[in-house]
Amino acid sequence: MSYGFLDIATTPSVRAAQAEMEADAHWAAFSGNRAFDRFTDNEAHFLAARDSFYMATVSEDGWPYVQHRGGPAGFLKLVNDRTLAFADYRGNRQYISTGNLAANDRACLILMDYPRRARLKIYVHVEKLAIDADPALTDLVMDKDYKARAERIFRLRLEAFDWNCPQHITPRFSEREIEQAVRPLHERMAQLEAENRALQDRLAKMGDA
Ligand SMILES: Cc1cc2nc3c(=O)[nH]c(=O)nc-3n(C[C@H](O)[C@H](O)[C@H](O)COP(=O)(O)O)c2cc1C
Repeated sequence: MSYGFLDIATTPSVRAAQAEMEADAHWAAFSGNRAFDRFTDNEAHFLAARDSFYMATVSEDGWPYVQHRGGPAGFLKLVNDRTLAFADYRGNRQYISTGNLAANDRACLILMDYPRRARLKIYVHVEKLAIDADPALTDLVMDKDYKARAERIFRLRLEAFDWNCPQHITPRFSEREIEQAVRPLHERMAQLEAENRALQDRLAKMGDA
């Protein structure tokens, strides 16, 4: 049995917690093929639409640290079916994720699609590269139209991913998504207002006559 993500996540203490909650039999009986160690078109499509994600790293003292990463939609690039990359932009200059990754290259990402109530978790090993270390990669991750200063490129080697269920995800919409959704209503309102003005003009002219 291989269940890539859970094979990593299920440590002895996790196994003990499952046993305590009588969930161990469920996982022991699991026989499906969910290695999830290569991205498919499904994940590629999902990643291309994301404009942010959360990344957990681990400090040298064992403390987890979660930070947000954002950029233009699709800024987390699929290099191939087992590799991702993104330009890491200048921020508050604490460099906590960067420092953590220098000591321990393991990270866990979670990506949210709030409107569709989907979430994708990804275990990766992360490698820090200079902006110009690999010209093809630089071309792939840099977006000249995006107003941010990239300080480094992170290349992420996939270990395993997993999809979560939609439970407890409240649908949320970005300004752009709302703008797209209400645009037909605005257009219809403008059309009706124009018709209304034309009718009022005709009525006024009839009254003058
Ligand atoms: C001017 C500025 C101030 C910021 N202040 C904070 C902050 O106080 N706390 C925080 O979590 N992120 C802050 N951010 C965002 C982080 O700097 C950004 O997420 C960065 O990528 C974090 O890098 P790290 O995870 O390597 O520490 C700030 C960004 C900018 C540009």
